[in-house]
Amino acid sequence: MRMVREPSHPRGHGGDRARAAAWVASVYIAVALAWMVAMSWLLHKVKATVATTLSIEAATGALLIGGSAVLIYFYVRSLIGDLERHHKSSLQSKLELVNRLALAAEYRDDLRGGHNYRIGHGSAILARLMGLPPERCDLIGQSAVLHDIGKIGVPDSIISKPGPLTDEEREIVQRHVLYGAHLLEGSDSPVIQTAHTIALTHHERWDGSGYPYGLVGEKTPVEGRIVAVVDVFDALTSKRPYKAAWTVEEARAFVLDQSGKLFDPAVVAAFEEGLAELLALREKSEALVPLPEAEIVPTGALVPKVGSERLRVV
Ligand SMILES: [Fe+2]
Ligand SMILES: [Fe+2]
Repeated sequence: MRMVREPSHPRGHGGDRARAAAWVASVYIAVALAWMVAMSWLLHKVKATVATTLSIEAATGALLIGGSAVLIYFYVRSLIGDLERHHKSSLQSKLELVNRLALAAEYRDDLRGGHNYRIGHGSAILARLMGLPPERCDLIGQSAVLHDIGKIGVPDSIISKPGPLTDEEREIVQRHVLYGAHLLEGSDSPVIQTAHTIALTHHERWDGSGYPYGLVGEKTPVEGRIVAVVDVFDALTSKRPYKAAWTVEEARAFVLDQSGKLFDPAVVAAFEEGLAELLALREKSEALVPLPEAEIVPTGALVPKVGSERLRVV
């Protein structure tokens, strides 16, 4: 019978580290005790005066305290370094998962032109131009890639329908904001919390004509108002199975015209200012490795392609 070897588990590292710390502490105590005994013996041997004994013991105490401080400094510094490395690696893993999930949604939605890449980066650009703090801009950029993740809950026959949708089908598609919010709710992670807000509110409109709640003006969180503009502009300028791509000028004119109607005027102002950056983003996304077509590709060949820059969305 073939034996399956258990993979080594990082759980063992904690035990090793505790044993090493206990060993260092024991050696430290042993050296300190030996030092004290040796000094007492020496002072007794040379019949030192009380004043000399006190001075030597004071010097010994200072030496021990100084030595302990140096040891504690290096130990705490090493612990903080470990914590920082762990935090960075955990954040990277979360972002990678978010981006892979966004990629899965692109497969599902048959969007093979880097739509999520542009929505992520484009939303971060507008957030920066609106003067939001850098950390918030990063969060918006990292999480906006999941704005349409709820579409995985909409049936294939509707998502891939080449023609216009019926009212009933449109209503089903609109539920993607609720599916997305449900999928992302209840997380402790700021990226997923922001993604939840965006998934739920990116179809709300400034004048209250959006869905799912018909929120008016700033009742829609700023993340949702930003993604609304970037998403509509990108959708208009992209070719879809049911429509041709608008020219940049046509889409720009539409967005500007909807300032204060469908869209937040502050976001539209940032859009106008950042349009050149958004267009550069489109050029960059088009140069990315396209998703492989729906054919059987050996895993070894697929991984390097999918693991390209395409996955490093933000
Ligand atoms: Fe959407
Ligand atoms: Fe979208």
